Amino acid sequence: MASGSKPEGSMLWGGRFTGGLDPLMVKYNESIYFDRVLYKQDILGSIAFARANAKAGIISQDEFQEIERGLREVEKEWEAGKFVIVPGVDEDIHTANERRLGEIIGKQVAGKLHTGRSRNEQVVCDMRMWLRDELRQIEGHLVAFLRVVAARAEQEIDLVMPGYTHLQRAQPIRWSHWLLSYGLAFAADLERLREVISRVNRNPLGCGALAGNPFGLDRDMITKELGFDGLLWNSMGGVADRDFVTETLQWGSMLMQHVSRWAEDLIIYSTAEFGFVRLADAYSTGSSLMPQKKNPDSLELLRGKSGRAFGHMAGFMMTQKGLPSTYNKDLQESVEPMLDHVKTVSDSIQIANGVLATLTTNADKMRAALDPFMLATDVADYLVRKGVPFRETHHISGRCVAKSEETGIPMNELSYEQMKAIDPRFEEDIAEAFNYDTSVERRSAKGGTSKSSVMEQIKVLKEMLG
Ligand code: ARG
Repeated sequence: MASGSKPEGSMLWGGRFTGGLDPLMVKYNESIYFDRVLYKQDILGSIAFARANAKAGIISQDEFQEIERGLREVEKEWEAGKFVIVPGVDEDIHTANERRLGEIIGKQVAGKLHTGRSRNEQVVCDMRMWLRDELRQIEGHLVAFLRVVAARAEQEIDLVMPGYTHLQRAQPIRWSHWLLSYGLAFAADLERLREVISRVNRNPLGCGALAGNPFGLDRDMITKELGFDGLLWNSMGGVADRDFVTETLQWGSMLMQHVSRWAEDLIIYSTAEFGFVRLADAYSTGSSLMPQKKNPDSLELLRGKSGRAFGHMAGFMMTQKGLPSTYNKDLQESVEPMLDHVKTVSDSIQIANGVLATLTTNADKMRAALDPFMLATDVADYLVRKGVPFRETHHISGRCVAKSEETGIPMNELSYEQMKAIDPRFEEDIAEAFNYDTSVERRSAKGGTSKSSVMEQIKVLKEMLG
């Protein structure tokens, strides 16, 4: 028989199998090398399940205590890095833990642990508990990042820079307004995350293989013990459902899309041509060839890793489409994308936080990049305030732009006479339209770039952090 494959004796489902498995199939099938990260959840789930079985009278109190003692031993082995995986036998974390339990407390009692239970519910239980805990940590990272956004926005509120559309200079804005444009998108991610967590945190134990539990298991008791927020109410759905993974991948993909765009802006702003920001050494690297280089690798990786996060989402959605009801082994393919996605998202938020907390801004460069044409709208608005219809003022201001281009005189330096010649309704106070700070301050309706509007956004953001 092929080495490492011993279906009859040692493998837990070996009873009806007679031949050996193709050794490659053994490896192809096993998930222990990645699902062992779930060891703790698997053990806690097993203890809760055994306790409920004891309450139901299907195992004795003494048997439960033995099982719990044994499982705590197994847990200690994992924690100490002493758990020895038996290749070809320990197919996944569930079978591995049970095999070891049998060795510690004897197969007679250990063999009762799985009474009325299926790995189909067990894997979902482990994944949901693990994911819930991870997502709560990510929630903390996101809140920490947003606190930095809010703090910087507050401290650097006087910095004015160009705002862009089509990556062309459009109108002057506050740097803080830019910060909050992403900050509020991330805050929406935070709201979504909190909702996702509440759906992830549902108890599948008691669903059985698909049809439910035959021994009157008190599922509510398990829900409480494992810290779930509620039950999965349909046993067939409960074992089939990986929406909690899909939803996490979708959530993380959108967050990473925001991260990526944010990073792209900062990459541009950190070039010598822009020079609005400078990354700390801690988040940049040099070139092995060109001594003068300081590259924004952190930001490039944030941008690059978004593709991988999105790929896991698309890939796993594809895995699920067309699956027939309840458990199919395809679903094992949910674990690795989940693990990688969570790590990618968690690391990325922390890196983004570090980048933002340590970068320096250059107010002079920001200001130097402003150009009088960015006030063309303000010139039009000036005439609007004198009662001229906007469609007309837009045209008039356009003629001022043309005049400036034609003469090579910056728009704000056109003489009063030159302006008056374009439209007689220009008066001497037109000079006031050519002020970047005034321009920014005029945008004081809620959501705009004036100081008061930006301060209000900061308040809104802070409230969302809770
Ligand atoms: N390792 C499996 C998974 O991740 C556990 C469930 C196995 N269930 C089964 N019926 N073979 O999906």
